[in-house]
Amino acid sequence: MTTPRRIDRSDTFVKVGTMRTAKSDGVVRFTVSVPGPLARQLDQMTREKGYDNRSLAVADLIRAGLVEHRQNLGTQEIAGTITLLYDHHKQHVQATLTDIQHDHHHIIISSLHVHLDHHNCLEVLVVRGQAATVKKIADELIAAKGVKHGKLTVTSTGKDLPG
Ligand code: NI
Repeated sequence: MTTPRRIDRSDTFVKVGTMRTAKSDGVVRFTVSVPGPLARQLDQMTREKGYDNRSLAVADLIRAGLVEHRQNLGTQEIAGTITLLYDHHKQHVQATLTDIQHDHHHIIISSLHVHLDHHNCLEVLVVRGQAATVKKIADELIAAKGVKHGKLTVTSTGKDLPG
């Protein structure tokens, strides 16, 4: 006697909407409640950034949140860039950075080197791999003696981030 009732409840729950709409690949409309001042600031930002409408701005915020969330999940595959600024006259810095890059040639898929002036070099490495591995390599490069400034910028590989 109890079994049919459980099935009924389950069907009712599915019809509520979120379960069904989330499966759709098309545009999904959903209601979000936020405090008035927050909504006003969202609209202001939407205008200032040049979005055509609030939905486009919110979609970008969601994507940014997803990318940030995934970079904290160690096994998630991410792509990104590591920017390094260093003085190539400092002893061993160039050799150290090259050694680290060769150790991780399967993660570092491209690199760009610019001689900014007589002393300073700017290097940008394009990376792709598991989030935890990418972060570890970035930390190692940025911490290398002689590196004045370094930064890892993470994005998505694009495969699992809907447009
Ligand atoms: Ni250089």
